[in-house]
Amino acid sequence: LHPVHRLFSCPGTVAADVKKEEQSSGIAETGSEDRTPKKRFSEVQKERREQAQRTVLIHCPNKISEKKFLKYLSQHGSINNHFFYESFGLYAVVEFCQKESVASLQNGTRTPSMGTEAAIPFRSRCFNLKLKNPSNQTSEQPCVSRSNQSPPSSKKLFELLCDAESIDDQLNTLLKEFQLTEENTKLRYFTCSLIEDIAAAYFPDCAVRPFGSSVNGFGKLGCDLDMFLDLDDIGKVKEHKTLGNFLVEFQVKNVPSERIATQKILSVIGECLDHFGPGCVGVQKILNARCPLVRFSHQASGFQCDLTTNNRIALKSSELLYIYGALDSRVRALVFSIRCWARAHSLTSSIPGAWITNFSLTMMVIFFLQRRSPPILPTLDYLKSLADAEDKCIIEGHNCTFVCDLNRIKPSGNTETLELLLKEFFEYFGNFAFNKNSINIRQGKEQNKPETSPLHIQNPFETSLNISKNVSQSQLQKFVDLARESAWILHQEGNDHPSPSNSQLWGLATLLLPSVAKNMSQAKRKRKKPASERVKNLLESIKSSSTENPTNTSGT
Ligand code: GTP
Ligand code: MG
Repeated sequence: LHPVHRLFSCPGTVAADVKKEEQSSGIAETGSEDRTPKKRFSEVQKERREQAQRTVLIHCPNKISEKKFLKYLSQHGSINNHFFYESFGLYAVVEFCQKESVASLQNGTRTPSMGTEAAIPFRSRCFNLKLKNPSNQTSEQPCVSRSNQSPPSSKKLFELLCDAESIDDQLNTLLKEFQLTEENTKLRYFTCSLIEDIAAAYFPDCAVRPFGSSVNGFGKLGCDLDMFLDLDDIGKVKEHKTLGNFLVEFQVKNVPSERIATQKILSVIGECLDHFGPGCVGVQKILNARCPLVRFSHQASGFQCDLTTNNRIALKSSELLYIYGALDSRVRALVFSIRCWARAHSLTSSIPGAWITNFSLTMMVIFFLQRRSPPILPTLDYLKSLADAEDKCIIEGHNCTFVCDLNRIKPSGNTETLELLLKEFFEYFGNFAFNKNSINIRQGKEQNKPETSPLHIQNPFETSLNISKNVSQSQLQKFVDLARESAWILHQEGNDHPSPSNSQLWGLATLLLPSVAKNMSQAKRKRKKPASERVKNLLESIKSSSTENPTNTSGT
């Protein structure tokens, strides 16, 4: 996918801006065929965070003239870019060229007087824009174009898949339709930046950083927004040497453990979000979890957010996945399809439990790609061997070192198709000796299981931990059964390849149907009906036989 296609073009966006956008987009473009330098994860983070700090969110009247709107805001400084989207009303995300413009806008903004209710006078970067004279700007305004923030409907997805030319094309289509857009990525960094403003009331030098699927290249439209409060830079001495015979330390409050410190900080930030954060609703403090967190919804962006603190290892895991996803164009396409397949068959869920997580599934795909001959992905130990002094990273005693410059990793010489890889993935894990072997991306080979959990996937950095400890034997068995069934379906189709042009449900589309519907699909195949009608019927049958939506990605 060329980044230009992901860009929402808005009037006033000059070609140079488009170029700039392309270069700063979150995901390095992939593929061994692509020789353009790829950005380091840390560079992307830094740029995006800085961009977000110059950005504001404006709730607009539905009928608005885009030109007048931009002209009005330009009083505060030049605008770098903007887009509109719909979420219980019309919103505009506006990125100024200079941070000072935000302050200028805030200085010209009043806190509303609320009649019977009272307002908490918190100056955020979310605004309401009202027309002074609504009757002036009505009907003849052309509708501003809106950037879409949701994944395609099941119906649309099945239609697109059926219209594809090959299974490879189907996997790439699914990736293209579900991956985070440029605008959605911007909105994610911006939301973190808003939370940072609130946390900064207590910790002025803090940073709130997104991690997980929002930044690792494997995020689907609609996925949750994982963020962590980074307090590491607080109290760090800027100059290395301080003169004289003395050393000064802050007086601080001591608590019995790191965990208690985390709980206390999150508890206060959670209260603050609940009481003062515009649009932060449903705040839940889940402080007794293994990894304490505050969960809330951010209304204007529509994101379900999980805020943690002290989560540097998770950020490093996100960086590692980002690198793996950017190394070869097949990786993200395969991971997206496997994640969608797992969701369609309820192997994964938005509710925590004994199921496999998307994180574990991604590790399984990476491991599988390391096992190909020649390998498509290098082992983590190899990435560590390429690291230089600057890459060295030890977090809480764990060695998290690996090469950060993607351009130093040689592309793979493997040329297998996505169709083959998908089939082989199901065969590989349909026959994997889960009872005795552990999956280990550090060494890229099966290891003896160190403990008795049904599924053992070694945590890449905290190597004594199993990231899939929660998975039950029955969930693992369900995964194995479905993998075998899917391998068999693809094998059958290989023998009896339907011509894609007659638009029957085929290839990846068949794999994404829950089993109940699949039987019906096979029965219906013989009858000739237009593809759109068959898709519609099938979806109706799924709806009535199951509450699961095959492409419902909310919270996953
Ligand atoms: P989605 O399902 O799309 O949200 O994928 P995700 O990768 O964001 O997963 P999730 O929101 O569950 O977790 C966010 C991040 O936390 C992951 O990307 C990992 O870096 C980390 N993480 C999640 N689960 C585990 C785990 O079991 N062990 C460890 N060490 N890290 C985890
Ligand atoms: Mg997540």
